[in-house]
Amino acid sequence: MKTLSLLIPMLLIILLPQAIYGQSKTLNIIYTGSMNGELEPCGCSPKTDFGGVARISGYLAAHNKELSARILVDAGNFTDKDTPQGRLKSEAMLKSFGIMKYDAVAFMKKEKGFPEDFFPPVINEYKIPVISSMTPYEQSVSVNRDAFKINVSVDPENYREGRLNILLTDVSVREAGFIKGWDVIITSSGEILDEPLTINETIIAAGYPKGKKLGILTLQIGSGGEVKNYKNGWQLLGSDIEEYPGVRDILNDYDSKVAGLLRESGKPPEGTSYLGAAKCAECHRLFEESWKKTRHARAFSSLKQAGKSADPECIVCHTVGFGEQGGFYSIETTPELANVQCEECHGLDREHIDDFSRPMKPVTKAVCLKCHTEDNSPDFDYPVYLKKIKH
Ligand code: HEC
Ligand code: HEC
Ligand code: HEC
Ligand code: HEC
Repeated sequence: MKTLSLLIPMLLIILLPQAIYGQSKTLNIIYTGSMNGELEPCGCSPKTDFGGVARISGYLAAHNKELSARILVDAGNFTDKDTPQGRLKSEAMLKSFGIMKYDAVAFMKKEKGFPEDFFPPVINEYKIPVISSMTPYEQSVSVNRDAFKINVSVDPENYREGRLNILLTDVSVREAGFIKGWDVIITSSGEILDEPLTINETIIAAGYPKGKKLGILTLQIGSGGEVKNYKNGWQLLGSDIEEYPGVRDILNDYDSKVAGLLRESGKPPEGTSYLGAAKCAECHRLFEESWKKTRHARAFSSLKQAGKSADPECIVCHTVGFGEQGGFYSIETTPELANVQCEECHGLDREHIDDFSRPMKPVTKAVCLKCHTEDNSPDFDYPVYLKKIKH
């Protein structure tokens, strides 16, 4: 009896590898790259409301089974600029990768712009497998996933025989075409490559800029470990995707740290340049009433709903004169300048109050385009939009 119970597992161990190598197997390479610090989309328009780490993690958690065997990699350039807020973003991005258990995270040009001691505390706390040509990091990492032995590297010289070789880089797609021998190259060059290219049997893919879509490269691997076939899919990351709570917590923590930055950065710029709608309304009551019916008059509550009412990157278009002397600073210090008010369109002109005869700056399309950008307002059409706010 005892020998039999030992024999079955032993037989399995001997027979299993053959069973696996007898047919082609599927491996999903799930990839991001060139996230550029975009933790989540602003939500300004449903047409551009895609992406974000909370949705990536939610998607992965919900489809864990059907995606396996899978390997999850970031090809780098996931950070924003090295500013106080950029640092908070980069840190939150890296923590999110940690929670999602990325198998490899490459540090590229943008990450190299940060001080050497900036990332290590998060890397250690979240045990993130970083690869980089920067010291003190490894340049390659081995991942064993089911029957697959995978070498993920940032070093084009580090091809490993007998493995599936994935190179993470940020060179352009064109330059990647000259790198020979690799099974897969994924770049964070920021280019959009709807379909991967195959050059000299190397599959070249590019992470979707700002992580608006999640790349899923499905490989069929033959018995000799060779890539027989592949298919690339893009998972669109819309608001229908349920967020993963652990990553949402990281984002909420980020929001409150950003609010802290604004509080700590001292006092608002001195001065009383902006008058505010209430002052204009003393003489232009009817104009104020019609303005109040527009969404401009409620622009700040949109930020509150999104939990971003103290985020300078949002406030700038949802208030009056943010960042300028006497402009909006925070809802605590300058509540009267919240929302998109008169002076955002008509300009700052205090003398107007004493001398009405001076013509005000004409309101042109260029005034609108300051805020109604391609990304934030893809439906913007001047005549149509103008009609909606005419007073
Ligand atoms: C460059 C200017 C700009 C920035 C920066 C900006 N917004 Fe907006 N936002 C707009 C404009 C313009 C609209 C109106 C878009 C439209 O309807 O065409 C808008 C609309 C919105 C809406 C309303 C969406 C709806 O349909 O009700 C929300 C919510 C919002 N923004 C949140 C944010 C958040 C959060 C941030 C920061 C992460 C942000 N915005 C940063 C310009 C901006
Ligand atoms: C003390 C009263 C008063 C206040 C306060 C005031 N205005 Fe006026 N404004 C006037 C008068 C009077 C005119 C001239 C009306 C006319 O010509 O019919 C005028 C004209 C204008 C015009 C038309 C100018 C043009 O070039 O044709 C605009 C735009 C305007 N005001 C915007 C504003 C804004 C924005 C504010 C707040 C920052 C404001 N006003 C505050 C009294 C005021
Ligand atoms: C300071 C930034 C800013 C400027 C300048 C600005 N807008 Fe807006 N606009 C916004 C924001 C923010 C919203 C979204 C408010 C919300 O719902 O939270 C918006 C919303 C709108 C909407 C509502 C969209 C809809 O579908 O209901 C219209 C229309 C609009 N703007 C027209 C204009 C026009 C026309 C101009 C130029 C004359 C202009 N805006 C200038 C920031 C701006
Ligand atoms: C989204 C931009 C926008 C905002 C916000 C806005 N206006 Fe205007 N306003 C316009 C446009 C566009 C016109 C059309 C005339 C022009 O080209 O100046 C206009 C016209 C006017 C005029 C009449 C000018 C004339 O030629 O007779 C007055 C007065 C005025 N606005 C006052 C206000 C006041 C007061 C507020 C705030 C309560 C306000 N506006 C908010 C865009 C705006």
